[in-house]
Amino acid sequence: MIFALPKQGKGGDEWLSVTFVNVFSPAKLNLFLAITGRRADGFHDLVSVVAPVKFGDNLRVERVEGAKTDAEVNAGSGVGVSGCFSLECDDPAVPCDETNLILKAAKAFVEATGEKLSARFVLGKRIPMGAGLGGGSSNAVAALLALNQLVANPLSRERLLDLAIKLGSDCPLFLHGKPLVMRGRGERIEALEAQNGTRLSGRRALVFKPSFSIATAWAFGRMAVGAPMSYLAADEAEARLACWRAGDESAEKLLFNNMEQIAFAKYVALPVLLERLRGEFGLAVAMSGSGSACFALLRDGTAVQAVVERIREAWGRHTFIVDTEIV
Ligand code: C5P
Repeated sequence: MIFALPKQGKGGDEWLSVTFVNVFSPAKLNLFLAITGRRADGFHDLVSVVAPVKFGDNLRVERVEGAKTDAEVNAGSGVGVSGCFSLECDDPAVPCDETNLILKAAKAFVEATGEKLSARFVLGKRIPMGAGLGGGSSNAVAALLALNQLVANPLSRERLLDLAIKLGSDCPLFLHGKPLVMRGRGERIEALEAQNGTRLSGRRALVFKPSFSIATAWAFGRMAVGAPMSYLAADEAEARLACWRAGDESAEKLLFNNMEQIAFAKYVALPVLLERLRGEFGLAVAMSGSGSACFALLRDGTAVQAVVERIREAWGRHTFIVDTEIV
């Protein structure tokens, strides 16, 4: 989209051409997550079925032609700045400096394309951080896709995938937009066949996160040092997944996450509540990624309000809870 804006502070007789795109940046849920072992490069190999949901952040990217670079315009204003890019967010807890994956993605995009590009990012943050919901990774991919769109798509899907995996292990999955199988450390993406995708897409999920967060690096580190016995051998993980794919069982039967053991040992509020939701409501529940967010698959007859009440009772009135749907 392109429109014109009066140039600020210049009497309104000069106009800037502003091109912008708004992109939705979804959260993800790991319905199946098997960490299979530690690699020589320090990362972990995994087998996961992961899906975006309808809940997420909004990212607006504005390209301002003929202006000073955003870095010059915004310097000193408290807005995060990196090169010719700036970042603002409605959540003050989100770091808007060069550590933010959006600005890292913008830098990687410019290096890969050689585009001379100046842009302003405005992030509407809804996905909690340190939740295992992929918020930062999703934002990075949203930034890549938006920039690519702004300059007539110079990057192919293969090159976007190359950039995405360099930004983070969970980034490639967000290029796909549908439930998929993820392997390696996240770079090997396999689309889920239609009949299996339909067992997941459209399923309603209640996502809830306690007030504390879990750092991904901590969870993987603990697994490597403190609980290597909780790895699931790759062939067992593949066999388990193949069994679900070959059958016709519901999404509930797919739920698995061997990172739960690490998180649950330290944060006992997680297993206590999940057990209660299983016992009292018969719900299929799991943690997403390295946590701390968990989710329950809802059915038509689920007493959702009672489930929400139970979560609030256990984790507090201000617990993050969102009722969403697998894309
Ligand atoms: O790739 P990303 O930056 O999201 O990973 C954060 C940290 O989580 C890594 O530095 C690594 O310690 C750990 N990790 C891992 N294996 C993965 C993904 C992440 O060990 N597959």
